Amino acid sequence: MSEVLLEAEDIRIRFAKRSGRKNQVVRAVDGLSFAVDPGETFGLVGESGSGKSTAGNAAIGLQELFSGTVRYRGEPMPVPGSARWRDLRRQLQVVFQDPFSSLNPRWTIRQALSEPLKLHGLASAEERDGAIARLLEQVGLGAELAARYPAALSGGQRQRVCIARALAVQPELIVCDEITSALDVSTQAQIISLLQDLKAQTQVALIFISHDLGLVRGVADRIGVMYLGRFVETGETGKIFARPLHPYTIALLHAVPVPDPEREAARKHQPLHGEIPDPADPPSGCYFRTRCPYATDICAAEAPAFEEMEDGHRVACHHVREIEQGVRRS
Ligand SMILES: Nc1ncnc2c1ncn2[C@@H]1O[C@H](COP(=O)(O)OP(=O)(O)OP(=O)(O)O)[C@@H](O)[C@H]1O
Ligand SMILES: [Mg+2]
Repeated sequence: MSEVLLEAEDIRIRFAKRSGRKNQVVRAVDGLSFAVDPGETFGLVGESGSGKSTAGNAAIGLQELFSGTVRYRGEPMPVPGSARWRDLRRQLQVVFQDPFSSLNPRWTIRQALSEPLKLHGLASAEERDGAIARLLEQVGLGAELAARYPAALSGGQRQRVCIARALAVQPELIVCDEITSALDVSTQAQIISLLQDLKAQTQVALIFISHDLGLVRGVADRIGVMYLGRFVETGETGKIFARPLHPYTIALLHAVPVPDPEREAARKHQPLHGEIPDPADPPSGCYFRTRCPYATDICAAEAPAFEEMEDGHRVACHHVREIEQGVRRS
């Protein structure tokens, strides 16, 4: 059996632009490759519109590809709607940002959690209440919540129920798409700590999507930083935080405060200027060059290669050597 759980190889996804000129094509995902091992958490980070959700949906077979392949345990992702695809739907779950619209307001929590158990024949009628109590416990909720309706729950509790519903079918992978962005900061931290517990207790792999690098740091084993449908930097979370090398990652990191005030004061600030370009009309060469403090002629002429700097730490930047030396000097 293959070690890798999920593998995306050079995937591209295009959409007809929603507004503006006719026949314009948005390259929402523009040649991404990544792999997720069993039990691993891969963080996808980037600004709004960088293609995170599209890539996450493609990873679990919810998004048709323009080109490239997604493999699940070495097997190409079946065609959406096919019998094999329906089989796989159990293994590959997703939790979305808005826990309120994801839950049927007319169903109690018991009903919401019973549904997947029934659908996949995972617990008999007698076993069901026990299974629901265990699921609620797994996400830090009391069994008494089962009788309530979503409206009677806080945002954080609702999101825990959505996570429990995904866990109900014992999936191998859950895509968590901005699951904390509708929550206040302290509730966000609680959900991150819940995910850390789940990682320790189960073998579930996660694709954790967020525009907030600080949150991603809390759960991801590896990170892929996306910009206009491409990776600019990927690597182990610790390595990326210790030594970010792409100017975009460096800029994003400056939005994340450092807990140590001395180090915070010593940081060279390099905030991100300007707007993300129109994905239907990206710049030539390196997509980031229009906002990059290091940009030179070569950046407009050629797209940079995605170069491996050290084990698994990859960076797509023509000026990575200079940046690397600068980082080392400071
Ligand atoms: N169904 C669609 N039809 C047309 N364009 C789309 C569609 N879905 C996404 N896009 C476009 O593809 C690009 C990537 O969108 P996507 O939602 O994947 O980004 P994202 O990184 O998840 O952003 P956010 O942080 O706002 O959720 C955007 O330019 C978006 O407008
Ligand atoms: Mg999104």
